[in-house]
Amino acid sequence: MSHILKLENVRAYYVIKNRSSAKEVKAVDNVSLTIDESEIVGIVGESGCGKSTLTNVILMNIKPPLRFISGKVILWKDGEPIELNKLSRDSLKKEIWGREISIVPQFAMNALVPTYKVKRIITDIYKSHYETSSDEEHIINMATKRFNDLGLPEKVLNMYPFELSGGMKQRVIIAIATLMNPKLLVADEPTSALDVITQKMVLKTLLDIYHKGFIKSIIFVSHDIASVRQIATRLVVMYAGKIVEDGPVEEIIRNPMHPYTKYLIRSVLTPERTTKRGEIVTVPGFPPDLSNPPSGCRFHPRCNYKLSKCVSDEPPMLRVNDKHFVACWLYS
Ligand SMILES: Nc1ncnc2c1ncn2[C@@H]1O[C@H](COP(=O)(O)OP(=O)(O)OP(=O)(O)O)[C@@H](O)[C@H]1O
Ligand SMILES: [Mg+2]
Repeated sequence: MSHILKLENVRAYYVIKNRSSAKEVKAVDNVSLTIDESEIVGIVGESGCGKSTLTNVILMNIKPPLRFISGKVILWKDGEPIELNKLSRDSLKKEIWGREISIVPQFAMNALVPTYKVKRIITDIYKSHYETSSDEEHIINMATKRFNDLGLPEKVLNMYPFELSGGMKQRVIIAIATLMNPKLLVADEPTSALDVITQKMVLKTLLDIYHKGFIKSIIFVSHDIASVRQIATRLVVMYAGKIVEDGPVEEIIRNPMHPYTKYLIRSVLTPERTTKRGEIVTVPGFPPDLSNPPSGCRFHPRCNYKLSKCVSDEPPMLRVNDKHFVACWLYS
């Protein structure tokens, strides 16, 4: 299987300074992750665990107060590895973003310029990111063809964002983000603000783009395991800036190993019968303050299974099998 992207021991912190003090929010802390061609990877975790920060790190879209502290972000382009962390923002914009990796940012559908028609939004984005010289007709023709391929109505191009439903806006954004056929699409909570039926439409658009070969891999970020399960083949669980478990979706759902994953899965995939009996499962306690995270395993203050080692030593990623990994001392 050929690699598309590899993160090696990446740390990216928000550095917040005021006159008297400075603090670092360790939002992505020593994360390693490899994405291969044809994978659809779901990244899940509670709010504030660093999912969106990780998506920005994957693109090397690092803007203050976020700072890239250490590690490598490697992308394979025409079979050659490139260290994205060594490229300037200008080169990233010209050579990488949109062409190799694209992102649908969290809340993107709220950020569409309300006074521009969809076709104007597309031509503006296309010209600013990709080819300033492209003529508008060429861009619109490309977009029209892509809309047809994805079953999106052509008339949407002549509509304003406020005329579109949330689901249609999100599908349009996904179509725009993948117009240049990037290898990897990173979609950050693309279905989170939508009702269940509309969520399915958006997931279908993502899968259409994937199955038609316009993109090779998807990273799908969500706090909702149920929607990740519908699209992803692999699940990556984040907790407090770190990856704690990584493996095939159904295997993890059937056999979660990290105590945090156990809680997460029990709390979202609880059968209704138990809920009705009043046995709603939640993760006890709260996620830690990432400017002062717990020692050892970051989950230890909330963990019912903790050993003394968990308080002092950070657990390494342990291999459960070929494809399943867990960062927990219980299995060492
Ligand atoms: N601009 C910022 N300045 C300072 N801290 C930030 C900033 N953006 C995010 N953070 C902090 O970084 C941590 C990770 O945030 P991030 O947005 O990556 O989490 P998330 O998993 O995407 O959450 P959500 O599910 O709510 O989208 C949080 O503690 C958050 O408060
Ligand atoms: Mg987020």
